[in-house]
Amino acid sequence: MNYRIGEVLLTEEKISRRVREMALEIAETYKGQDLMVIGILKGAVIFMSDLVRSVSPDVRISMDFMAVSSYGDSTKTSGIVRIVKDLDCSVKDKNVLIVEDIVDTGLTLSYLVKLMQEREPKSVRVCALLDKEERRQVPVKVDFRGFSIPDRFVVGYGLDYSGQWRNLPSIYLVEQEN
Ligand code: IMP
Ligand code: MG
Repeated sequence: MNYRIGEVLLTEEKISRRVREMALEIAETYKGQDLMVIGILKGAVIFMSDLVRSVSPDVRISMDFMAVSSYGDSTKTSGIVRIVKDLDCSVKDKNVLIVEDIVDTGLTLSYLVKLMQEREPKSVRVCALLDKEERRQVPVKVDFRGFSIPDRFVVGYGLDYSGQWRNLPSIYLVEQEN
């Protein structure tokens, strides 16, 4: 099956406006505090780099990354979360903000939140650019959410299909080629 980029779902401008609003919410929550922002590779990289640059310096941010695999190469979740790269830094007694590109079934984030909590941080919150709420299989509290989107596969702004299209500045629907 061949796939191609379809209609635009969220434009560059719309994303950028919402990311700045989210940065304000984050700055309000953590004002005067330290915050360890944990990006989930690779999907969250582009979102996270825009997000942290919009948070005011009143929040003392540090950054770390984790890589997990749950998807393989297709568009269906396997339900298995495997840590491919763990954090370099300890989260003990720190404010932790997990940054994800999209919450789908919720399996990845619920696993990661549980894992972080076992490491005894001061707090754990979740920030996700996109949320496909109707796909949820396990509950996840998304503290900072960019957009709720319908149950369609999307690419761009960090999100990929089989490793492709992460670099697109807007977010697009993926369509099957006839
Ligand atoms: P979950 O564990 O089912 O919530 O899966 C979340 C992960 O699935 C995300 O981090 C993405 O890597 C991937 N994912 C889910 N939906 C999409 C999509 O529409 N486009 C690209 N990746 C997606
Ligand atoms: Mg991902």
